[in-house]
Amino acid sequence: MVVAGRGRRGARTVRDLARVALVRAPRGPLLSRLASGILDAAFEASSPLPCLPPPASAGRDLLVVPAPGAVAPGNQSIEGVACLVALAEATRAERIFEIGTYNGLTALALAANLPHVRIDTLDLPPDLVPELPLAESDELHLSRAASRRYEGRPEADRITQHLGDSARFDFSPFAGAIDLVYVDGAHSREYVENDTNAAFRMVKPDGAIVWDDYSRLVPDVPALLHGLAGVPLHRVRSTRLVVWLGGELRRRLQAGTLW
Ligand SMILES: C[S@@+](CC[C@H](N)C(=O)[O-])C[C@H]1O[C@@H](n2cnc3c(N)ncnc32)[C@H](O)[C@@H]1O
Repeated sequence: MVVAGRGRRGARTVRDLARVALVRAPRGPLLSRLASGILDAAFEASSPLPCLPPPASAGRDLLVVPAPGAVAPGNQSIEGVACLVALAEATRAERIFEIGTYNGLTALALAANLPHVRIDTLDLPPDLVPELPLAESDELHLSRAASRRYEGRPEADRITQHLGDSARFDFSPFAGAIDLVYVDGAHSREYVENDTNAAFRMVKPDGAIVWDDYSRLVPDVPALLHGLAGVPLHRVRSTRLVVWLGGELRRRLQAGTLW
């Protein structure tokens, strides 16, 4: 017991030192990256959510992912896109709903990899002030985009852009009709709660919901997800994604045949 106590104190000290290093270190150098890595590892180690087994390639040899230069801060990572595609295939998805289009790159990547899927994606119109409070980090990634990356491409025929505030948007036409809901709009507690409720209304019983930004840097997302009593959630290693699986997928997960 004493050893465990010391271990915990030791881990706390390392975490505290890492925080100090992050504040003191000039931008970019090795020390600052090391400190971030330690804090990320501490966040993961303290997470109550189990990990999904790593997504398989679902029998495919090729995956279309954004070119590294095309990925903007705020876009989904390449590992995250791969996971979304694998989940869409696991649900045999026909319809995906994304909350938070941003520059449209993830919607494009999903449409390119999933040629039979229709994607509905929602973002704020340029001048609308969101009704609920935003998280600090949201101000950086509010899309005021005049155009989206999928525009002018053949995949655009299967992408429907909706403009509105998710706090006021009428999700009822999508009730129980969506195979995969991707929640990646604003990240305040109020918005994550609002968008999570919308996601559960839209998702089919055997579908899946994915939340982005499960991270120490976006504290309202883990706080809200940890508080969803009785809702089985899994995180996905090497990404910031958390996943809820509907009945059939959950049974396959337990049987080891999810992917
Ligand atoms: C992190 S970006 C989304 C990134 C994108 N899903 C991807 O994978 O590349 C968050 C997006 O949510 C949008 N957003 C923020 N608040 C919103 C709201 N209340 N309703 C709808 N969209 C919102 C922002 O304008 C921004 O484009």
